[in-house]
Amino acid sequence: MSVRFLLDGEVIALDEVDPTGTVLEMLRTRLRRTGTKEGCAEGDCGACTVLLGTLTGDEIAWRAVNSCILFLPMLDGKALLTVESLGGDHPVQRELVARHGSQCGFCTPGIVMSLYGRAIGALGAEQSVAEMLSGNLCRCTGYGPILAAGEAVGRTPREDAPLVAALKALREPAGAFAFQDRLAGRERLAFMPRDADELAALYERHPRARLVAGATDVGLWVTKRQRVLDELIFIGDLEDLRSIEDRPEGVRLGACVRYAEAQGVLARLHPALGALVRRIGGAQVRNAGTIGGNIANGSPIGDMPPALIALGAELVLRKGDMRRRMALESFFIAYGQQDRQPGEFVESLFIPRPVEGEIVSISKLSKRFDSDIAAVCGAIKLRVQAGRMTDARIAFGGMAATPKRAAAVETFLTGAPFNEETLDEAARMLAADFAPLSDVRGGAAYRLAVAGNLLRRLWAERQGDVTSVLELARG
Ligand code: FAD
Ligand code: FES
Ligand code: FES
Repeated sequence: MSVRFLLDGEVIALDEVDPTGTVLEMLRTRLRRTGTKEGCAEGDCGACTVLLGTLTGDEIAWRAVNSCILFLPMLDGKALLTVESLGGDHPVQRELVARHGSQCGFCTPGIVMSLYGRAIGALGAEQSVAEMLSGNLCRCTGYGPILAAGEAVGRTPREDAPLVAALKALREPAGAFAFQDRLAGRERLAFMPRDADELAALYERHPRARLVAGATDVGLWVTKRQRVLDELIFIGDLEDLRSIEDRPEGVRLGACVRYAEAQGVLARLHPALGALVRRIGGAQVRNAGTIGGNIANGSPIGDMPPALIALGAELVLRKGDMRRRMALESFFIAYGQQDRQPGEFVESLFIPRPVEGEIVSISKLSKRFDSDIAAVCGAIKLRVQAGRMTDARIAFGGMAATPKRAAAVETFLTGAPFNEETLDEAARMLAADFAPLSDVRGGAAYRLAVAGNLLRRLWAERQGDVTSVLELARG
């Protein structure tokens, strides 16, 4: 079986595909499309940005992604555009030249592709130029000229009808293939099930396989840690794991919904949650990474778990035809250990709608605004009725070996008057719940101090006394 995709409308068939070979490597070494650059090989710099097109009905849904952590099977049945596809005279390129938006030029192809994505209406194109460029680093132009170039480019929709026809004509997706890995000295397998039922059956038969959704975590295991993964199941495009249901009682997200796709509905549910999603990675990471992947990965510094735990989210796990529903917090047992059986996968997530009197505050503290991992991510949900807190759910990431609730502080707050003194006292009590570690992102004392300050911040927010970093940046 080969991986087949369209590059500028031309069918490319790749045989002998290493299932964790990257699209960037294939472009540069196999197809000699060297315009796409490798800066970091870990999804941070955006120099490798390409546009990936998926057939959705009679249209192509484009999204800018990092090709350095995009595995080759994820191209199967899709359309790809690289900087060479633009031909050198697109308005984005003309504006960048005219406004001195390129100096060394290494980051420029990626910036061109992100801006081109915005121009053609790719995923997230309704956002500002700065947001679309949040995953593109440039060390020498100072961003001003680049942002100006982006602002100057209008909408230039693509005529995709020929591509749509060509994508429809591509044969059925590969389904599965084996790769004779001579270096590793063994055969490695990749599967691409067509739906969740097929996945459920397949994963039961191959419980040791590694699921790959957006590959924004798994990609780095390969590019940075040189891990060899013997069995992979690609699930990122399974439609029945990608639905978003905005119901009266709350929002249900399939596990493979990507951040950029969920941002709008989550912001309507809880503005603070939408704002948190905006802080995850850069645009390309949000266009690829899934919320299910963030949960299943089980990292103590993942951003979504603390927020979703505080908001009372529930998880549905599936193994074969059996489903289990659980409170999200119960999923995280210990560092690197989650309540997930062999062959069981995360199917969906449910986040309840706020009730009357509910106050939510979510903060991610990191050194950079964009593309950074949190030192502490804190989420507080209080229900205030007649001046007292009748319910409190508080969870932190970066404060323990798992995302964890502040049980003692919650007990203290429940029934207490909602005022500055109570929250100040609660902030001082956090040491009863957490004994954080010191690491490169922050010392233990710093973590405890800033986590407490998030409780004080909630009060300040209620008094209209807080300016967000984004507002400060915008002047
Ligand atoms: P994958 O990499 O495909 O998978 C991750 C893990 O989850 C694997 O173990 C996989 O087997 C498992 N898995 C995936 N889906 C399922 C499922 N449905 N059921 C069971 N197991 C499953 N994270 C943050 O929290 N905040 C950030 O700001 C942030 N910034 C990042 C910046 C960069 C540059 C990069 C590269 C990553 C960043 N991440 C960040 C980490 C990553 O983007 C997220 O954890 C993301 O949500 C992972 O989703 P994915 O679909 O890419 O998962
Ligand atoms: Fe830096 Fe891909 S090379 S994001
Ligand atoms: Fe981007 Fe130099 S032009 S780093």
